[in-house]
Amino acid sequence: MHLRPRRNRRTPAIRALVRETTLTPADFIQPLFLHEGAEDVAIESMPGCTRWSLEGLVKEAGEVHALGVPAVVLFPAIADSLKTSGAEEAWNPEGLVPRAIRALKEAHPGLCVITDIALDPYNADGHDGLVEREPDGSLVILNDETVECLCRQALCHAEAGADIVAPSDMMDGRVALIRHSLDSESFEDVGILSYSAKYASAFYGPFRGALDSAPKEGDKKTYQMDPGNAREAIREASLDEAEGADMIMVKPAGPYLDIIARIRESTVLPVAAYQVSGEYLMIESAAASGWIDGRAVALESLIGIKRAGADMILTYYAKRAAEWLRA
Ligand code: PBG
Repeated sequence: MHLRPRRNRRTPAIRALVRETTLTPADFIQPLFLHEGAEDVAIESMPGCTRWSLEGLVKEAGEVHALGVPAVVLFPAIADSLKTSGAEEAWNPEGLVPRAIRALKEAHPGLCVITDIALDPYNADGHDGLVEREPDGSLVILNDETVECLCRQALCHAEAGADIVAPSDMMDGRVALIRHSLDSESFEDVGILSYSAKYASAFYGPFRGALDSAPKEGDKKTYQMDPGNAREAIREASLDEAEGADMIMVKPAGPYLDIIARIRESTVLPVAAYQVSGEYLMIESAAASGWIDGRAVALESLIGIKRAGADMILTYYAKRAAEWLRA
């Protein structure tokens, strides 16, 4: 026997030399939840996550940044009294998100602030788009009218100082129109991270609980993708690239590693992947039961996502993983 692959695994030093994929804090984007209250409130449906007050948010973002995580993405819990069927609060310049962007950029100018573009936190119906009821009682999502709202929302976030806007709504044509709106108001430096391949996934359940943003009726299957489809993900990513997206996202991450790998092959744009709430909680709950080593499994899940082809990972582990990697 002269071929012995184990020679390259013999010592930690050799393994370090031949390691193909490594994680660093710079790979991560930290999702942060915020609300109007003055208190920082632990989120029951997502242990380990917090709904931050503005003050708490600024402090937490500073700690995350100091650990080497370059970016945060904001998810607001909006008071029920502000939710309407037109979702107008989504582009209120004095709304929670624009105020948070301004506070974050003032306190941490070097931190990349990304915002979610979609109507669900603001929409009385809980859908990512505007909803109309057909005579037969069924709901339809109004694509083109929604895109107009998303453009207003993106402009509102850009005016407040967002570095990157991230449309997560899956409406057709929104990247081109958001790009056009930003450019026409001289925000040509604001980037677009497009949720290109966002699947209609049961793994989002805990997140919707965290924000009270679950759809009141129906599901999201007419806009989010069918979990059985892979070629369609390439089509979505190619369209978003042609429409001017700066970065492409796949979501969820762990159950869709093949999609990450295929999109990685199909574009030279940076690829992001979102390890979503259900993925996070499967690891957290198994670890809390003592069934798995949570830290080791979390880091392995993240390196798997990176190895599949993700350049950056949105993960609720961002801060903790950055601490683990430094230790
Ligand atoms: C909504 C949005 C969702 C998530 C991020 N943005 C939920 C949804 O589409 O219903 C899910 C994130 C997670 O589960 O961690 N625009």
